[in-house]
Amino acid sequence: MTNPNEVARHYHSGHLLKRISDGCAAMDLTPPFFHDALAPVDEFHIGGRLATEPFVNALDLTPESQVVDLGCGLGGPARYIAATTGANVTGIDLTAEFVETGRALTEWTGLSDRVQLIKGNVLDLPLEAESFDAAYMIHVGMNIEDKVGVAQEAKRVLKPGGIFAIYDVMQVGEGHMDYPAPWASSSEQSALARPETYEAALKSVGFEVSNRIDRTAFAKQFFADLAAAQRRADGPPPLGLHLIMGDDTALKIQHMVRNIEGGLIAPIEIHARLPV
Ligand SMILES: C[S@@+](CC[C@H](N)C(=O)[O-])C[C@H]1O[C@@H](n2cnc3c(N)ncnc32)[C@H](O)[C@@H]1O
Repeated sequence: MTNPNEVARHYHSGHLLKRISDGCAAMDLTPPFFHDALAPVDEFHIGGRLATEPFVNALDLTPESQVVDLGCGLGGPARYIAATTGANVTGIDLTAEFVETGRALTEWTGLSDRVQLIKGNVLDLPLEAESFDAAYMIHVGMNIEDKVGVAQEAKRVLKPGGIFAIYDVMQVGEGHMDYPAPWASSSEQSALARPETYEAALKSVGFEVSNRIDRTAFAKQFFADLAAAQRRADGPPPLGLHLIMGDDTALKIQHMVRNIEGGLIAPIEIHARLPV
């Protein structure tokens, strides 16, 4: 059973804002600057911005949309949505350091009027019922055992007809998952589940599941390109996920890639909607 305190401890690294600030300085970036510059470090999921773009397109957002990001991390996807669609995005995350750092990044990129980041648990959202048009969750369900609880909270805060889109790493084969992984130091913090489990949870609270997209081919290409770029480079770039994942970043990625290649896990999108 995953424990929220353990999950938050896994993601806390200490002095994250300082490391990102130093990375920006190394690139001659002084706030305010355009949000895109942070994408290598503030999109903490397989494919980064390349995955966020098609995922967000499917949400059909407008400048009037009220959107909630469940497990927003540093808020990269939330800032991308606010900047590209004009929508208002509220992000909720368990890890205090991510929320505090994310708020600073939102100020640096001039998006504080459209992006609010709040510390909280997806299973007990500090949000009003029926107050959002769209909800999304990117690479968070791997830390939450209670998939029905997630679906229930998403349903509660969405208006009738609202969309809930998920992009998570899911279990698709049988075998032993290697840890540490980017989302968990050990199997005790991991709540990998099959796409069928997510869909059953969504349907059990009243969502209609409209789409399931397997992003395995995209992920394999993404990691192949990343490895090639790393071989060409002298060292890590000033801004990258190593600033979040720490000294064992390479091992975490290696484990994840090996388990994707082996057919045990896969990055998968699921889209669901509430009836009107
Ligand atoms: C891999 S990161 C993804 C962050 C962000 N969605 C992104 O794509 O950049 C997983 C995030 O889920 C958050 N998280 C895990 N369990 C949570 C829960 N029960 N409630 C809120 N946030 C949670 C963690 O704190 C972490 O920020």
